[in-house]
Amino acid sequence: MDVNILKDGDAVATAGADLLQRVLRQKPNAVFGLATGRTPLAMYRRLVASCRDEGLSFRKVTTFNLDEYIGLSAEDPQSYRAYMKRELFDQIDIDPGNTFLPECGAKTDPLDVGPAYEALIRSRGGIDLQVLGIGRNGHIGFNEPTSSLNSRTRIKTLTRETIAANKDPSAQPQLAVTMGIATIMDARQIVLLATGEEKAEAVKRAIEGPVSAMCPASILQMHETVSVLLDEAAASKLALRDYYDWIATQKKRIAAEAEGD
Ligand code: GLP
Repeated sequence: MDVNILKDGDAVATAGADLLQRVLRQKPNAVFGLATGRTPLAMYRRLVASCRDEGLSFRKVTTFNLDEYIGLSAEDPQSYRAYMKRELFDQIDIDPGNTFLPECGAKTDPLDVGPAYEALIRSRGGIDLQVLGIGRNGHIGFNEPTSSLNSRTRIKTLTRETIAANKDPSAQPQLAVTMGIATIMDARQIVLLATGEEKAEAVKRAIEGPVSAMCPASILQMHETVSVLLDEAAASKLALRDYYDWIATQKKRIAAEAEGD
């Protein structure tokens, strides 16, 4: 894992946006896996600004979101489709027809949504870069603790803790369709963003704990290409902090030497 401890949330957002832009420069028709929640908001704002001011283009991009609630219409402001439209899709030049969430319309059998989503991801060539946040209990997407580490896109019951962590628990659905853990692990590259003290324990378990379904994010230890972008608060419980700082020093030295060549 490439663990990056950055000054603050702004630096995390900038580093995340830079990573997406690097992928996009190499592959203008990249397939991105996207996350919702508070954490990626600042990163999305940076991408919007780059699109507006610097000619960044999502014209050929396809996106697959991690998850969507069951029982909310796409127009419901609490739905993840509405969030994505508001925070990103409506403000960039992406083709709305290339933006996918595991949505379960009123007439759709929820059991069909997962296999259809998996097939759609495959038909688009798989995910080049998957963006992840992390829940306080270590969940990724809506893969709550004890989710099979080999799971595929399917219906999940949210924990009471997850329901309470969302803005309006009274209007909060209790079921969602989420990419599975194996679906996430199929992505060629993964970036996990975490900010704030409330994520410090989950971050520690994910990076330095045993690989366990009790902390779904810990499976990322088994992926070859994961970048973790943390602010100081989210990194505050890491045991190997000194080592991560040492790596950062080495990276800076190598970059400076490469520039000098
Ligand atoms: C939510 C989402 C996750 C998100 C996580 C953290 O329940 N399903 O995809 O990464 O919890 O959310 P936040 O960034 O708001 O802390």
